[in-house]
Amino acid sequence: MTNLNMPEMLKTQLTDFFYELHRTPELSNQEFHTTQKIKDVLTQYDIRILDLPIKTGLVAEIGHGEPTIVLRSDIDALPITEQADVAYVSEHQGVMHACGHDFHATAVLGTAILLKQQESTLQGKVRILFQAAEEVGTGAAELVQAGVLEQAQAVFGIHNDPTLEVGVVGCKAGALTAGVDRFAIHIQAKGTHAARPQDGNDPLLILANIINIFQTIVSRRLSSDENAVLSITQVHSGSTWNIIPDTAFLEGTVRSFDAETRQRIEQQIRQILEGLATTFNAKIDLDWQPGPPSVMNDEKWAQFALDTAQKSGFEPRVVKASPIGEDFSYYQEQVNGAFMMIGSGGPFPLHHPKFKVDERILIPTSLYLATLVQDALIEIQDS
Ligand code: NI
Repeated sequence: MTNLNMPEMLKTQLTDFFYELHRTPELSNQEFHTTQKIKDVLTQYDIRILDLPIKTGLVAEIGHGEPTIVLRSDIDALPITEQADVAYVSEHQGVMHACGHDFHATAVLGTAILLKQQESTLQGKVRILFQAAEEVGTGAAELVQAGVLEQAQAVFGIHNDPTLEVGVVGCKAGALTAGVDRFAIHIQAKGTHAARPQDGNDPLLILANIINIFQTIVSRRLSSDENAVLSITQVHSGSTWNIIPDTAFLEGTVRSFDAETRQRIEQQIRQILEGLATTFNAKIDLDWQPGPPSVMNDEKWAQFALDTAQKSGFEPRVVKASPIGEDFSYYQEQVNGAFMMIGSGGPFPLHHPKFKVDERILIPTSLYLATLVQDALIEIQDS
């Protein structure tokens, strides 16, 4: 069942397709041409496309009957001006595939074609997602809403990881990525002449207290076996040297790895701000924007993904959780599955203007994922 190989012509087609996507990146929710290009190839191979109420992205299906397995890729790019040393550099000014979603989409497209060529032997069906808007954290929820998890018994997805060497597949049971929350805080106090602070209420002093006390949340209020990151990333206030301003603003993010810690940090932030508002007699508004929760891999499927990686010629590696965010977690809230990190060989990190994926991993990843879903269908039927 797993003796897959790929004709040279298809390898060339996929490699060219990867270059094409990389040259023509599109931002979240604007992936119209990307969607059309994927659709064209799927149609060329007579792969059925589901009719869903979505503007960008698409979902294909291969095989028949049950069980159903879902395999997800993402397709959107980032507002970054590319500086990567590649021949197929972005032709869209200020937009770049700096997270490798062009690689994910192409690898999974390759898997779809491989599965189509073996459709008669497939022990169920595979639903293949080309998901829009991962970078803004809304695409997965939209597809869940559209019903793509109906009947699904397992869900798999990949992300490339430049911190892992080419040839490595990383995975782990439990939390693999962070829950990502964003907060913005508006302080309304009272401006005055810098020489007469007693006539006003200084928002900068309040801001300084918020920064200090927030940094006690992780260091003093979580236990040593709890894991989280809190970063304040921008502050704005004031206009000149001799006026105390009326207002101040700060913004930041919290990364956590389990639902309980996540909820507790939010509660503490609210409590600290209420206390400071009372202490300083000021108005402090919190805009709390929850992002996707942690990718939470099922124990059995994480091991299955690692075992299949080994069978497929990759080096399987149990990795540590990473503080990045990933909206694949919304699928896993409904259906068990695993998310795998495919080593893409650095040296530049994700979202860096010089980021690139080592293209040698493209075809092996298509083959790996085809083996994985074929074997997972059999595994479900046997269990
Ligand atoms: Ni990404």
